Amino acid sequence: MSRSQWGSRLGFILAAAGSAIGLGAIWKFPYVAATNGGGAFLFIYLLICLSVGLALMLGEMALGRAANSNAVGSFRQLGGRAWPWVGFTGVLVCFLIYSFYSVVGGWTIAYIGKSLGGSILTSDAKVLGDTFNDFITDPVQPLIYHGLFAGLTLAVVLGGVQKGIENLSKFLMPALFVLMLVLIVRGLTLPGAMDGLLYFLTPDFGKVTGNMLVDAMGLAFFSLSLGMGVMITYGSYVGRDTPLLGSSLWVIALTVMTCFLAGLMVLPAVFAFGFDPSAGPGLTFITMPAVFAQMAGGQLFAVLFFCLLLVAALTSSVSLLEVVVSAVMDEFKLPRRRAALLVSAGVFLLGIPASLSLGIWSEYTVFGKGFFDLLDYVTSNVLMPVGEVLLAIFVGWRVWPVVQGQLAAAGHTPVWLRAMRGFCRYVAPVLILGILVHNL
Ligand code: PFF
Repeated sequence: MSRSQWGSRLGFILAAAGSAIGLGAIWKFPYVAATNGGGAFLFIYLLICLSVGLALMLGEMALGRAANSNAVGSFRQLGGRAWPWVGFTGVLVCFLIYSFYSVVGGWTIAYIGKSLGGSILTSDAKVLGDTFNDFITDPVQPLIYHGLFAGLTLAVVLGGVQKGIENLSKFLMPALFVLMLVLIVRGLTLPGAMDGLLYFLTPDFGKVTGNMLVDAMGLAFFSLSLGMGVMITYGSYVGRDTPLLGSSLWVIALTVMTCFLAGLMVLPAVFAFGFDPSAGPGLTFITMPAVFAQMAGGQLFAVLFFCLLLVAALTSSVSLLEVVVSAVMDEFKLPRRRAALLVSAGVFLLGIPASLSLGIWSEYTVFGKGFFDLLDYVTSNVLMPVGEVLLAIFVGWRVWPVVQGQLAAAGHTPVWLRAMRGFCRYVAPVLILGILVHNL
């Protein structure tokens, strides 16, 4: 069976950016930046994305294209029998992340409904906080929306690489940017917003701590979808003549820009309305409705905003599902349809305890964490870093000539390629291992 291919370079870049840009950039980045003191966090996040992030993204894309296979198969083909389990870990992490990602994706659908009904169009922080909490702790509603979100993701993946994933990304990612710009202008013109802007843009390097570095690195890899085989899988659908360096620079630039815009969109408004910037996961869901309540046509903007948040989440969850489906299809020789249905059913089931752990099952904890937090913690802070170290070692030491062959024009080794090898061989393993040890 011949392997699917992207229809164009633009389609590839937007699909990869669509995987990267999601709840990580728009939902996670503002509250993690806010809890870590704003400006300095932004700076460090940028630095990591453009150094180690770029090297690993290029490495993943090159591996996928060289092997022309899924995450597990690429490690097997290029590295031999000792390596496929690294790809397998990536596939497993995608499965685990997808299960709680889909729960949060479901929240965005519910908030489209709440915007249509008008119940969240108020600047009353208490009402907004209570609405959010009542919803996520409800035993039934979030599960229905989780199922809906997983169903939507399934529908796109069943559509296949070009028709499903590429087309969705090509139209909806640009719309997301335009809407964010409109919301930023509204947020920045609220009285009191300038304090938030300064908080976000003024780096105070006195606030740099070990924890901040850990958070910045974790978020950088999460938001760039690195270390789990997404870019390997997407790279395997790329034609030989597509330049990978330019493509990954685009993906990173778009992702970083979205994080920046999300910060500009959420944080000034947080200050203008006197919300607590370290409110955590509810920040975007609680703050943005207050901004809409202050806008002419606020209801329309609210609906649009949550629709686009849904789209951003969807283009990412599609990549999570695609990695698992692609591996299951190739490894177990299953047709796309059956593989996608099977994986989606598993994800739906795993999402149930994740969602309930925010409400009626909150007393059941492991290491002091509910199941939702445990999934997030174990994937972001343990499994992802392990996968990334192994990926860096694989690219930098085990198969460097293959990767170099994919990236360099024949004949010479440009400076950036030597820098990349250095990042993969030394910087990434040392940095990421440091974080892992710090976390444990
Ligand atoms: N990058 C996505 C986001 O920031 O929302 C999440 C994600 C997608 C993480 C795919 C990992 C992944 F493999």
